[in-house]
Amino acid sequence: MKVLNNIQLQNYNSFNTKAIAMLFCEPETQEELSELLKTYSKEKKLVLGGGNNLFFTKDFDGLVIKPGMQEIKIVSEDDSSVIIEAGAGVEWDMMVEDCVSKGYAGLENLSLIPSSVGASPIQNIGAYGSEAKDTIILVKTVDLQTGEYIEFTNSECEFGYRNSIFKRTNRYIITSVVFKLSKSFTYKEKYIDLSRELTDIESPTIKQVRDAIVKIRTRKLPDTKTLPNAGSFFKNPILTEDEKNSLQKTVLDAPIYNIGDNKFKTSAAFLIEKAGFKGKRTGMVGTYEHHALVIVNYGTNNGKDISDFASEIQQEVLKQFDIKLEPEVWIY
Ligand code: EPU
Repeated sequence: MKVLNNIQLQNYNSFNTKAIAMLFCEPETQEELSELLKTYSKEKKLVLGGGNNLFFTKDFDGLVIKPGMQEIKIVSEDDSSVIIEAGAGVEWDMMVEDCVSKGYAGLENLSLIPSSVGASPIQNIGAYGSEAKDTIILVKTVDLQTGEYIEFTNSECEFGYRNSIFKRTNRYIITSVVFKLSKSFTYKEKYIDLSRELTDIESPTIKQVRDAIVKIRTRKLPDTKTLPNAGSFFKNPILTEDEKNSLQKTVLDAPIYNIGDNKFKTSAAFLIEKAGFKGKRTGMVGTYEHHALVIVNYGTNNGKDISDFASEIQQEVLKQFDIKLEPEVWIY
């Protein structure tokens, strides 16, 4: 395990912004990670997954850790289900594709999400009516402060919408994730866009669901390789009943989803588009022409340009609809 000095992070974040890490290390096992944390106990630390959900606005004068655990193994299986453990460094969609090809159901709706396995529980990645929490049974971690191993069962992860104990506390480095997948599959309608794509198929297979999602995502979301971005930039706002009523007075056609507990979700993409920001560009930063929630980088190296543009959107949405958009992306 090598600890490197002064490493350029531009290729480690999907927005491609420049920043130097004073120290950088890619531990490949839980033991290496634990040893690293004990050796560098005083340094500031930042954990990087696939770098698909964060960007830098300045250099980092501490230790950047990129978990490199790459193993995927079957822990146990029976006639109806299979339990799989995957290392934090495994590329998310590679695992999804592998499971789909073997007929293991549960991850197909999360196809093509740019992520690493280790990042998936942190913000409980979700799409098309599924979330990572639906299949995760255990998360293995190392405590950033003590180097100790700690495991979290599904309920101990305290999952919420784009949230978990890992995101809230920023204290545990995920080394592997254990998923329980099913060997049988019946398509259930959960998301209108997906059902529309599958309308000609009577009972879609897992592979057909994955293919449909790959099609939708490719159509709606920009490829980070050609147009650097971090997927959805803001979370969909959760509103109280009063906030919902006042939004509906201002914007008659605002989409509202009742999520129970007297809480309502609206669409950040819709509000940003209504505020006049869809496809808008300021200098080298803009929103994607086919999806207002995705901020794209047209060529700046400076993360500050991106955070400035995001603030511009937040201010306008606040002014027009009295709703504060919260970033989904981490800004360093
Ligand atoms: N819409 C607009 N303008 C747009 C795009 C969308 O008004 O430019 C409205 C439409 O009414 C549409 C609604 O927004 O029906 C929802 O759009 P979409 O289906 O694309 O979903 P989203 O809420 O914008 C969420 C996730 C995505 C995930 C999709 C699909 C969040 C923050 N984002 O987006 O996740 O792929 O659902 O399930 O929850 C990500 O996290 O990076 C991400 C891409």
